[in-house]
Amino acid sequence: LASVEVDVSSLTPGMSLTVKWRGKPVFIRNRTPEEVKAAQEVKLDELKDPLARNANLASDAPANDVDRSAGKGKENWLVMIGVCTHLGCIPLGQQGDFGGWFCPCHGSQYDTSGRIRRGPAPENMAVPVFSFISDTKIRVG
Ligand code: FES
Repeated sequence: LASVEVDVSSLTPGMSLTVKWRGKPVFIRNRTPEEVKAAQEVKLDELKDPLARNANLASDAPANDVDRSAGKGKENWLVMIGVCTHLGCIPLGQQGDFGGWFCPCHGSQYDTSGRIRRGPAPENMAVPVFSFISDTKIRVG
């Protein structure tokens, strides 16, 4: 299937769900204000991978939090392919030193924006093509 439609109406802040898209898990998270704030406060020069890796934006877009999220006004929404950019394991959510994702395979740690912060993974987790098709529905792909 080229795309999947996901009802996110039941996701209150702090809740996530995972859907399968093109054989890969896609994490959809309604981030808490604290998670968004923590991600926004990180300076770009602290990042191992300075690129947004967001398929909805130019390939050289920087990895600031708004460009990792669903964009202005929807900064709470994070949609990304839940695959570690090291060797492809599936990271565990809301774990690790940065409050984001922790990969149990070799210890990569991602922040609340899904950006790689420590460990062997080279890139931020990828943001797939997606859009809100209504206030409560996201189409991935
Ligand atoms: Fe995630 Fe190696 S696959 S750290």
